[in-house]
Amino acid sequence: MPVLTRDEAASKIMVALDKPDAAAALALAEQLQGTGCWMKVGMELFYAAGPSVVRELKSRGFRVFLDLKMHDIPNTVRGGARSITRLGVDLFNVHGAGGMAMMSAAAEGVREAVAAGDAEQAPLVIAVTQLTSTSQTVLNEEIGIMGQVEDAVVRYAKLAREAGLQGVVASPLEVAAIKSACGVGFITVTPGIRPRGNDVGDQSRIMTPYDAVAGGTDYLVIGRPITAAHNPAEALDNILKEMTL
Ligand code: C5P
Repeated sequence: MPVLTRDEAASKIMVALDKPDAAAALALAEQLQGTGCWMKVGMELFYAAGPSVVRELKSRGFRVFLDLKMHDIPNTVRGGARSITRLGVDLFNVHGAGGMAMMSAAAEGVREAVAAGDAEQAPLVIAVTQLTSTSQTVLNEEIGIMGQVEDAVVRYAKLAREAGLQGVVASPLEVAAIKSACGVGFITVTPGIRPRGNDVGDQSRIMTPYDAVAGGTDYLVIGRPITAAHNPAEALDNILKEMTL
């Protein structure tokens, strides 16, 4: 287990701001201001509050992961990636299930927006492999992909790397296999994190923060264990303590 400082641990945490409007999201962000953690803006917040909430979080000094899991034809995803790049997020994602051409188009969209001078920085682009709520049974019997979850995840990770993306979203249980297939520098962002004693909820392939870091995860996405806590700042603090043991 690498020994992490508190700042290093905080910079690995992406808090899922799954809130219904900008006011609720920004009130929560305020409680976590200055901790060094990232903010993850997903569908619930973005569809309600739009780009302005992302700009507001950036202006408050947060790094932002825009989690919209784009999955469309390559031309549409290229345009979406250009727009997201102009918005100035630090990281966004597309679905690995969209295939190589779609993932490459996302990377191209980023390059086009930067080359046009529309963005100061190129965001990192990562691919969703299999949702952390997807169990082995769901993968085989509903989605219709045969074999083990880990094999399906590693296949998408390799495709994402070939397409020029910088990493993947996966379960912390799959990090070792992804790193061994794609290299240690290939970024892993892992939801499905549950501190000891927390509700599993709808997640399926889960791990504690300590074990996730020990397993080589680069970034831990944590939602309800922080956002639904009576005192979110204290919940984050307890997680940081757990990670820096
Ligand atoms: O509340 P919880 O910790 O389960 O939140 C996990 C967050 O990570 C949610 O915002 C969810 O949309 C997101 N996510 C996920 N699995 C993925 C990709 C994103 O759970 N594969």
